[in-house]
Amino acid sequence: MLDKLYSLKHLIGNTPLVSLAHDQVNLFTKLEYQNLSGSVKVRPAFYILESSIKRGEIHEHSTVIESSSGNFAIALGTLCKRLGIKFIPVIDPNINSIYENVLLSLTDRVEKVTERDETNGFLLTRLQRVQEMLKITPEAFWTNQYGNPDAVSGHYYGLGDEIARSFDQLDYVFLGVSSCGTIAGVSRRLKEKYPNIKVVAVDTEGSVIFGDKPRKRFIPGIGASIVPPNLQEAQIDEVMHISETDAIDGCHQMLEQQSLFVGGSTGSVYAAIQNYFKGRTFTKKPSVLFICADNGTPYVNTVYNREWVNMLREQHVLI
Ligand SMILES: Cc1ncc(COP(=O)(O)O)c(C=O)c1O
Repeated sequence: MLDKLYSLKHLIGNTPLVSLAHDQVNLFTKLEYQNLSGSVKVRPAFYILESSIKRGEIHEHSTVIESSSGNFAIALGTLCKRLGIKFIPVIDPNINSIYENVLLSLTDRVEKVTERDETNGFLLTRLQRVQEMLKITPEAFWTNQYGNPDAVSGHYYGLGDEIARSFDQLDYVFLGVSSCGTIAGVSRRLKEKYPNIKVVAVDTEGSVIFGDKPRKRFIPGIGASIVPPNLQEAQIDEVMHISETDAIDGCHQMLEQQSLFVGGSTGSVYAAIQNYFKGRTFTKKPSVLFICADNGTPYVNTVYNREWVNMLREQHVLI
């Protein structure tokens, strides 16, 4: 099985590292949307599958099950299709229609929950459905993106190591958080190479990861309604909470100022960087890195749609 998986390896990682215009800092980004399946999430997906196959936990009769409404499901679906094994994503009604159609092309079965959990979101209901599916599905394997050490290792040895090999000195890294796998793996690797680096976690208002009060959120890919076990592995210096309004503005600014068409989590991170450095002066410009976790195409009907944004603003649900 591993040979099938490795036939896709050259399409993952070694993403372009580009320098961006900025007045106060030397700003860099890594175009993670150029990975196979269009996002950074294929890195942990590949590493989890590879490690689990090596340990004999996944074999040709396995069915992989995961709760994801987005990039991780598409990454797993892409890899499982190449492996020739079954994959069942557990999704919810908030999934955007583009992602849902991609998933329906990648897998025979998509499991959709419809009931909200006690935080008014769907994550807890999705995780409960995963547990039910694991009981009734023969040879089921749960990738558990929120608490699988292999997800963290995938980022440590993948993205984290690539960044560490690219810079002699790096002063700041800004990373969006959801399952916290990216920040856990990348922060650990970067702190080894650059002991003085500042790791800034960017979360969204209404996400409970760092203790904010839960509220309904509209932009996927950032925030969570649980505290992911992966967070324990992360080495974080500062946390910023960005409103969804600022995340949308951040996406439009990325397009205007940097000509990069990015997804909502990247817009949040870009907004965080602008806020963080506003009014600060340095004798020597610091080096600052963030990633473009996915691109803007799945968000054309939301973040990049004026009517959708105005509708949510009029309902006073977008903060
Ligand atoms: C677009 C995007 N950005 C950022 C993240 C956050 O990464 P992590 O789940 O590793 O915290 C995700 C996770 O799904 C994502 O899809």
